[in-house]
Amino acid sequence: MKTIITGDRPTGRLHLGHYFGSVKSRVDLQYDYDTYILIADVQALTDNFEAPEKVRKNVHELALDYLAAGIDPKHSHIYIQSLIPEVAELTVYYSNLVSVARLYRNPTTKNEVSQKQELFGEKGEGITYGFLGYPVSQAADITALDGDLVPVGEDQLPHIEQTREIVRKFNHIYGETLKEPSAYLSMTPRIKGLDGNEKMSKSLNNAIYLADTEEEILKKVMSAVTDPNKIKKDDPANPDVCMVYYYHKLINNNVDTICAECKKGARGCVACKKELAKALTEYLRPMQERRHYYEEHPDEVDTILKEGTKAAKKRAEEVMMRVREHMKLDYFENNPDK
Ligand code: TRP
Repeated sequence: MKTIITGDRPTGRLHLGHYFGSVKSRVDLQYDYDTYILIADVQALTDNFEAPEKVRKNVHELALDYLAAGIDPKHSHIYIQSLIPEVAELTVYYSNLVSVARLYRNPTTKNEVSQKQELFGEKGEGITYGFLGYPVSQAADITALDGDLVPVGEDQLPHIEQTREIVRKFNHIYGETLKEPSAYLSMTPRIKGLDGNEKMSKSLNNAIYLADTEEEILKKVMSAVTDPNKIKKDDPANPDVCMVYYYHKLINNNVDTICAECKKGARGCVACKKELAKALTEYLRPMQERRHYYEEHPDEVDTILKEGTKAAKKRAEEVMMRVREHMKLDYFENNPDK
């Protein structure tokens, strides 16, 4: 069975952008792959180093969101990145194989730095070694567990490319040791916000969270952008420029009827929005029921995280034996007590 390694930073709740961008494909793939999903707390600290309590709280929230979304602990291992010191070790070895210039060229890191001026300065001149290097630690996350496939959103592709470069260089220098992973993009690698923005994100304030209540969903949907040329309720309109229709399509709600009625002018936007809010609420209901169950059973969540972490650590230990051997670091067979 091939292996999936993927995960998210614990920095807030998951929204529909995360769900359709990557989490749903993890849920669908977990039955056919050995699946490891990491809660990347070490990576979250690279831009939240001053707020460890926030990261800590979000580790639990992210675990709840994963379980709510349908990650099934019988089929997937959910684990905490900081509990796998082998990954930190591998990161150090990898750091010799990547130039600083290459890290500066990573478009995702660049974009993040430009959004974090308060932390890293207006021109990013205060960027830390840790943040610049987090794609190296991400390469270690993936390869320390021998990952084959990495289901992620579009913004993560530069990191997977960087991982592949590191693996090739490592294997070239130290001999065939590591697997070269591939990214897996979902059908909808990036979804638009209700405001029509190209991206749904917390910072753009246009996100619908998996845990949003019916009222919150309705409020957000009522503000969605529709065809600007439609003035009156029974004007014909173009659903292709309407975010409400975009979301109906995303959750596959009555699409043909809605499209035909909208084009004919037989569908008012307010009614259409209410219908969408209702459909989204129904769509999210099973997730929220699962979330509620696990909120009431925190011990079960802890057990899932402990078991997942033990399984991930065992794999990383095996891979690191190989790495240390190939790097001529296997002194005393890795055991000074021997
Ligand atoms: N960079 C990812 C994010 O921002 C999180 C992440 C850390 C990750 N390590 C990973 C994703 C390994 C896939 C594989 O959410």
